[in-house]
Amino acid sequence: PDSQLVDPFGRRITYLRLSVTDRCDFRCTYCMSEDMVFAPRAQILTLEELYAVADAFISLGVKRIRVTGGEPLVRKGLTGLLAQLGARSELEDLAITTNGSQLPSLAPVLRDAGVKRLNISLDSLKRDRFAELTRRDRLDQVLAGIEAARAAGFKRIKLNSVVQKGRNDDEILDLVEFAIERGLDISFIEEMPLGSVSSHQRQITFCSSDEVRERIEARHTLVRSSHATGGPSRYWQVAGSETQVGFISPHSNNFCGSCNRVRVTAEGKLVLCLGHEGALDLKSLMRRHPGDGERLRNALVDALQLKPEKHHFRTDEQVQVVRFMSMTGG
Ligand code: GTP
Ligand code: 5AD
Ligand code: SF4
Repeated sequence: PDSQLVDPFGRRITYLRLSVTDRCDFRCTYCMSEDMVFAPRAQILTLEELYAVADAFISLGVKRIRVTGGEPLVRKGLTGLLAQLGARSELEDLAITTNGSQLPSLAPVLRDAGVKRLNISLDSLKRDRFAELTRRDRLDQVLAGIEAARAAGFKRIKLNSVVQKGRNDDEILDLVEFAIERGLDISFIEEMPLGSVSSHQRQITFCSSDEVRERIEARHTLVRSSHATGGPSRYWQVAGSETQVGFISPHSNNFCGSCNRVRVTAEGKLVLCLGHEGALDLKSLMRRHPGDGERLRNALVDALQLKPEKHHFRTDEQVQVVRFMSMTGG
């Protein structure tokens, strides 16, 4: 049956991004501040509450769930939750977005739990630079994590690179090469203005997807591909390889018209659009009425009436969304 989650613009929600923690073992400069203060544990949804949220969405017709963070793999007990989700036959897809640091040990466990697709963040292949961008000297661990993921046999592994001028834009072709050699996909992402990271810096480091694509086309032939996840990424196949190159261009491409997704933060807030502050507090509702799945489902259906038409991200303005990326999981 079709999803019962429909917004006023006729968009059906079939995809949930579920953040399981706001914590992370890295401190990427575009994602959080060095001295980031995390939510107290009591404010974070329990594993049971996370499952209840996912269950409500699945009953309403959501077909795909992507588990995010912070860094989702630092959440204790996550693999149990994943196994529960992996067992739900209604789900066509169960995916995780991770920084890769825990994959050396966890990759096979995730595969066994039923995770199908992995997205792994990788902005640089240079040790010093990686340490600067993430504020942690862990490149080797992440590279080992990527190898562990390949060995575990995931259907598709995709690298995510946020491109910043003067910081890592000289590595675009190296990252593409790295992906091709390993049969991975790779997405290049325009930085989004979330949280209080200096907007002045952001103007200087902004690098458009068009520019990234031109640089790749200087060496490779890119063929527009029909590959799509209902997300913002537009994909091109690198001719003569298995690699799909995706571009996530919130500044230069308005993909909101076909948006199929909502998010739930680790604190149990339903976020209807990444680019807006508005959120519905599902945690309070669940803690007031534990076990009341029907109430939760009705609240979700009603909340969809409030989904904004689109985001208004700009590179040249003060931060419009105060919430850090690490709170929404992207
Ligand atoms: P799939 O669609 O499941 O393949 O995932 P994805 O590539 O969209 O997800 P991932 O978690 O790897 O996120 C990659 C980037 O896309 C991050 O920077 C996210 O913030 C961004 N992103 C994902 N969905 C949206 C969206 O609906 N709007 C905006 N503006 N950005 C998004
Ligand atoms: N803009 C764009 N992408 C971001 N990510 C984190 N912060 C930002 C931002 N401000 C990316 C990470 C990760 C994904 C979940 O979101 O690099 O790949
Ligand atoms: Fe952690 Fe990902 Fe944010 Fe980096 S971008 S600090 S890895 S949550």
